[in-house]
Amino acid sequence: MNEQALIDIAIKLVADNKGLLAMDESNSTCNKRFAKLGIPQTLEARRAYRELIITTPSLGGSISGVILYDETIRQQKRDGTPFLKVLGEAGIIPGIKVDIGAKDLAAHPGEKITEGLDGLRVRLQEYFQMGARFAKWRAVISIGEGIPSRSCIEANAQALARYAALCQEAGLVPIVEPEVLMDGEHTLERCHKVTEEVLRNVFIQLNCQRVLLEGMILKPNMVLPGLSCPKQASVDEVTNITVNSLLRTVPAAVPGIAFLSGGQSGELASARLNAMNIRFKSRLPWALAFSFARAIQQPALEIWLGQETNVKAAQQALLHRARCNLAARGGEYTAKMERT
Ligand code: 13P
Repeated sequence: MNEQALIDIAIKLVADNKGLLAMDESNSTCNKRFAKLGIPQTLEARRAYRELIITTPSLGGSISGVILYDETIRQQKRDGTPFLKVLGEAGIIPGIKVDIGAKDLAAHPGEKITEGLDGLRVRLQEYFQMGARFAKWRAVISIGEGIPSRSCIEANAQALARYAALCQEAGLVPIVEPEVLMDGEHTLERCHKVTEEVLRNVFIQLNCQRVLLEGMILKPNMVLPGLSCPKQASVDEVTNITVNSLLRTVPAAVPGIAFLSGGQSGELASARLNAMNIRFKSRLPWALAFSFARAIQQPALEIWLGQETNVKAAQQALLHRARCNLAARGGEYTAKMERT
């Protein structure tokens, strides 16, 4: 394992206030999002949409790396140029989603375990050879009555750690994503407790599997009340509780924390990231960055609608959200940016 190479990539992924763009939706997730907007759910529509994203002019000014899906990493632009070549020319590091999805955890109604460890070593070697330099694995934790169980948290944390160790062996920086979902009626305080418990377990397992903390990125949820909780939280409350949870649980050796957006609007995700960086940046041991899918892509998808004539406007919307998050990392995002 070339430790220095891993450290260099991890640092590069969160350098210069840039962040990650997750565009690794599985075919079924991508198709669901297309169906909602009346976009055909075809291989060609998915390819055209991903081409739109990666050919957005100046994207590399705010995005350090993109997370691709197995179908996408092998695709080309309509003119035959491989997507990986386009990304290389834009100075964007390619990453790859390597889990194969969250499946029902046996004997645990309502809980999931992420699968994909079998055969992973060989798949990682292939992705490295293709040019990927980082990978992603998402674990899903639901909050509800009597859940999450300790066994669900431990099983997912262990899978994340085994994946991370295999990634580093293959020369790929692991993005470790334990997502506590926003669905439900739970309070901010409940999400806080669960998130801390999950992160504590994740780092116990990462250490146990001998993962080089300097050569990984953590991708957590922000601490938020459930979407159906009657008491929603202010930007300040979210900022304080999220950063304090991370300060208690994430070792200083980790170079970067890149949040998922999890269903927040683009504006709220930027505002919250901005507030965290304004209030806490001077005393944080790690970079606080972003690795958003919906909070960057959604406005662009709603403009595109599968129409070639909408590509330019969709790319502008995508670039706008990416730049808002670049500004948020520097504590320079303002609501005014949304009106210009
Ligand atoms: P969202 O930002 O839409 O939550 O997606 C991030 C991601 O990569 C989920 O795995």
